[in-house]
Amino acid sequence: MIIPLRNCCCFVLLINVLLFAGACKKKSNPAPTADPTLQSTAPFLMGSAVGSDAIKGSYNYQGTLINEYNSVTSDYQLKFDWVEPQQGVFNYADGDYIVAFATQHHMRVHAHNFIWHQALPNWVINFQGDSLAWENLFKTHIESEATHYKGQVASWDVVNEAIRDDDGTLRNKDVNPGDGSIWRQHLGADYIARAFQYAHEADPNALLFYNDYGQEWGGVKLDSIIALVTSLKNRGIPISGVGMQMHIDINASNAGITAALKRLAATGLKVHISELDISVNPNNDPNIVFTSDLQTTQAAKYRFIAETYRATVPAAQQYGITTWEFCDADSWIPAFFHRKDWPLLFDSDYKKKAAYFGLLKGLKD
Ligand code: XIL
Repeated sequence: MIIPLRNCCCFVLLINVLLFAGACKKKSNPAPTADPTLQSTAPFLMGSAVGSDAIKGSYNYQGTLINEYNSVTSDYQLKFDWVEPQQGVFNYADGDYIVAFATQHHMRVHAHNFIWHQALPNWVINFQGDSLAWENLFKTHIESEATHYKGQVASWDVVNEAIRDDDGTLRNKDVNPGDGSIWRQHLGADYIARAFQYAHEADPNALLFYNDYGQEWGGVKLDSIIALVTSLKNRGIPISGVGMQMHIDINASNAGITAALKRLAATGLKVHISELDISVNPNNDPNIVFTSDLQTTQAAKYRFIAETYRATVPAAQQYGITTWEFCDADSWIPAFFHRKDWPLLFDSDYKKKAAYFGLLKGLKD
């Protein structure tokens, strides 16, 4: 058969396109392994914080993420300073990349976050204006971001870390540098409720969370968080759940973790273990070695958390467990606290650690 030259070129082009598509597919979608994975084992969604650069930069990162997880949280790409570096100038490129990647791989997207006292751009820190002007910048930021991602993300951390560690009051003016919240200072105590309302008006289908750390300590911090979210719920403010960050270390009290999960479950709201990692070097020992004893202790803690979450939070309220990244090389802890640490499930070569197998056991046994 004689194929006209033009058709022949098209045919060759088509074959090349198909081969290229096949090659790309192979690289970004590693063949599923027969081994159980976190997502195939968990009775709820398993999430990880992810960075757009990390996804772009490593096939191992992509492969592990797609294989193990079915939910992602944006690590820093949707925070205030990243999204609105200048007033009214919005940068959604990195957030869009994460959302597109997650959508392509059928993962839920949990967005983090609208309102936090950290990760603020200078224009907000230095903003001069009356309470109306503050309300306007606050509302515009939430509405713009929520509208941009409407229908594309399942849920949001609306307000992050609003409550003080020492006395359980709302962060207000700085006590220690970096500790205060300009939001409370300029907008009054009910800014939290209004943040939820603005987010809900812009994206009525998104589930909205209050997110904080230190709930496993119990005491005033947990009391205040429970009081806050209960009062929001009772007032009809559109809150769907609470994120328990769980940046813990191997010495964290099991009783404290159980008690916090029980009290959060009793609010009737969804409970998300939202930023889990388990530090093995809380005392900043510069000479620390990640011994097999430390690995075993860390694995047992991961296991305990999964078992306790399953046992204490009713299935309908289980929003899932999210680790804050998954590979030790990508953890925020060494850079943030200037120390060696190995808080996550995979080592820096993406090899499964004892911690991974501990968590896997806790998800099913
Ligand atoms: C961390 C990010 O992972 C880092 O990249 C950044 O430098 C600091 O913030 N609690 C939170 C997260 O709610 O937003 C923080 O993320 C970790 C602590």
